[in-house]
Amino acid sequence: MNQISRDQLTSIRQFAFDDASKDHSGHGVDHLKRVEQLIHTISQKEENDESISVAAGLLHDVIDDKLTNDPVAKLTQVNQFLVRLNISNPVIDEINLTINNMSFSKTLTDQQVELSLAGKVVQDADRLDAIGALGIGRAFYYSGKVGEAMYDPQKKPRMHMTKEQYRHEPGTTINHFYEKLLLIVDQLNTITARKIGQHRQQVMLKFIAEFKDEWEEIIPDDGDEK
Ligand code: ADP
Ligand code: NI
Repeated sequence: MNQISRDQLTSIRQFAFDDASKDHSGHGVDHLKRVEQLIHTISQKEENDESISVAAGLLHDVIDDKLTNDPVAKLTQVNQFLVRLNISNPVIDEINLTINNMSFSKTLTDQQVELSLAGKVVQDADRLDAIGALGIGRAFYYSGKVGEAMYDPQKKPRMHMTKEQYRHEPGTTINHFYEKLLLIVDQLNTITARKIGQHRQQVMLKFIAEFKDEWEEIIPDDGDEK
């Protein structure tokens, strides 16, 4: 049973795409399209009501505190919009439960909340788009945007960070793999997502090994061929 109609989803998609249209940090419209497709793939296997997940998946970044200066005002806007679309209150509540609690940074706080199945599917889809080849691309893209170095062998990865440290103390892109991206595969909720995640994990491991090999290659500084 679909609790949100096709027309309602079309309106929600337009709202979310407008919001994401100017993003250049890896959270643009292309990210939302991939999240929606992954939700579809996972939902088919996991017998999930896809419509609630798709709505939450499209809206999750609108209220992200690294993408907006005023997440509270954005959440109010989202809810007013959902009310105007005549979405029922229980469905709006489930969308709120998901988008307020699905982020990785939330897991670094002591305010973690159990998600519904619909929410777990959205969280899996969003996390899958953070790993594999696309995840590698997004991580470097994001780092460039916030001014992080790609790599610094002197800087060790930070484990057990607080949300404040994660957001505000600069790291490096390669360390982001150890601090977050390589841990995702074991944090996925559904079996379907884990299967997709395992391949993406291998892609990242291979990439990091190659990256470090190339970084450490000794290049003669006079340019002479050996
Ligand atoms: P969430 O929004 O779930 O809390 P993040 O804040 O980690 O997750 O942001 C999602 C994506 O943004 C990451 O998967 C990654 O691509 C990118 N990102 C976030 N922080 C960093 C970082 N410090 N270095 C590189 N990429 C990052
Ligand atoms: Ni996202």
